[in-house]
Amino acid sequence: HINMVKICCIGAGYVGGPTMAVIALKCPKIEVVVVDIFEPRIIAWNSDQLPIYEPGLDDVVKQCRGKNLFFSKDVEKHVAEADIVFVSVNTPTKTQGLGAGKAADLTYWESAARMIADVSKSDKIVVEKSTVPVKTAEAIEKILTHNSKGINFQILSNPEFLAEGTAIQDLFKPDRVLIGGRETPEGQKAIQALKDVYAHWVPAERIICTNLWSAELSKLAANAFLAQRISSVNAMSALCEATGADVSQVSHAIGKDTRIGPKFLNASVGFGGSCFQKDILNLVYICECNGLAEVANYWKQVVQVNEYQKTRFVNRVVSSMFNTVSGKKIAILGFAFKKDTGDTRETPAIGVCQGLLGDKAILSIYDPQVPQEQIQRDLSMHKSELDKPPHLRPVSPIAIEQVTCVRDAYEATKGSHGICVLTEWDEFKTLDYQKIYNDMQKPAFVFDGRNVMDVDKLRQIGFIVYSIGKPLDAWLKDMPAVA
Ligand code: NAD
Ligand code: UDX
Repeated sequence: HINMVKICCIGAGYVGGPTMAVIALKCPKIEVVVVDIFEPRIIAWNSDQLPIYEPGLDDVVKQCRGKNLFFSKDVEKHVAEADIVFVSVNTPTKTQGLGAGKAADLTYWESAARMIADVSKSDKIVVEKSTVPVKTAEAIEKILTHNSKGINFQILSNPEFLAEGTAIQDLFKPDRVLIGGRETPEGQKAIQALKDVYAHWVPAERIICTNLWSAELSKLAANAFLAQRISSVNAMSALCEATGADVSQVSHAIGKDTRIGPKFLNASVGFGGSCFQKDILNLVYICECNGLAEVANYWKQVVQVNEYQKTRFVNRVVSSMFNTVSGKKIAILGFAFKKDTGDTRETPAIGVCQGLLGDKAILSIYDPQVPQEQIQRDLSMHKSELDKPPHLRPVSPIAIEQVTCVRDAYEATKGSHGICVLTEWDEFKTLDYQKIYNDMQKPAFVFDGRNVMDVDKLRQIGFIVYSIGKPLDAWLKDMPAVA
């Protein structure tokens, strides 16, 4: 193990914060500084109210902060002092210009790279932690070497596979750590240095070393495969509803095939999160740039099915309720893109809520972690702005009149005509649904976009229940949704 290595990570977001906290915890002899140009985030990382909600994160940060883990806005100073510089800045989808709507926007990445070149006075290993298009390392290498003043930079690709809500668990016990580097002796030496960091807690056989392009592409490929599984099961869910098959039973049956495996086969109202859509669009763009139209179209379909699933859900809600939700109170339970996170980036709830608002519904929204301002910002924004990280989005002063955000599920559902479950928060499973039913307009509807409700129990209470991919109530069969 190498001693007294200094690590600096540029970007104190969902990836930079938790990954560096875990490195600091597992490597007490390494000094880790996480830097960001967005000062409020740094202030929050140094406070008791961390800027992101992630189970177990508080504990890790408390153990190391001030010892060998620091958060700072002095970006240049800490980059200059570091031996290894991780770059974990945001790489959203480009909203304007060449490749708009698909290509990755590398503005933040390039400015970070130029700054590294500017301030460095000693040799450094620069690690791509952000998800980037394959071949980005080549561009970054050019920027660094053309501005280097004789300093030697080695570029590594070390994509992050953590999922939000389970980030700490994923970082403690990763399925694998992937490190890509140049096949030169210097490149191999750099790989070894980063391997030594992870070797503090990750078993050697779980650290995979490849060339740069394989590492970069593997990240896009992994996310594309994962999202593709969800779109596949979601496509099946539509067929299940049409035929009387039950998507949970189908998932269970196919998942028993060890070649398919049981994970990531839950039908839903659609996948969300900052990564899947962005990374697939990026992959599609790269395929197109390489003249591979068929490959591009294949992956594009994964995103299209995801859009279809959200539209299908909204149509189901509206058509079940006599083809109009105008003026009706609809309770939205859950707004985050998955449980155990307060993150709303690309959450399917945005599309579903906007669809219902388009049909003039009155929404009462409850999420245990997402603040009201965030929900209002998300719903009042133009699509292109949603790709930006929350703090870079413009704040709209106009609160939408059709939307209220409330503090619990009972308040949200009181007096409503229907309930849409859009995030699978555990607390929604144990609500007193008899009480909720009593306080609702009749007929009372539940639309479960996450398959977490006890459908039989709800039907016994008297609800009309729609659950993605499950056999339909007689009521719903009589009101076919046009997708
Ligand atoms: P984020 O928006 O939460 O954090 C990025 C941070 O970088 C922001 O705080 C921003 O202020 C900062 N930043 C931007 N430019 C900077 C600069 N020049 N100098 C200093 N700081 C700068 O993003 P994130 O969710 O942490 O994602 C980061 C990268 O990791 C993305 O490429 C993403 O695709 C990838 N990734 C994300 C996840 C995830 O679950 N969120 C998982 C794996 C990979
Ligand atoms: C994903 C990848 O899992 C992770 O490896 C990568 O580093 C970042 O992107 P994340 O977006 O945080 O992680 O969460 P994930 O658990 O993958 O869920 C993504 C979306 O898919 C969520 O909206 C989730 O609800 C949905 N999903 C997931 C389903 O609809 N069905 C499933 O079976 C699994």
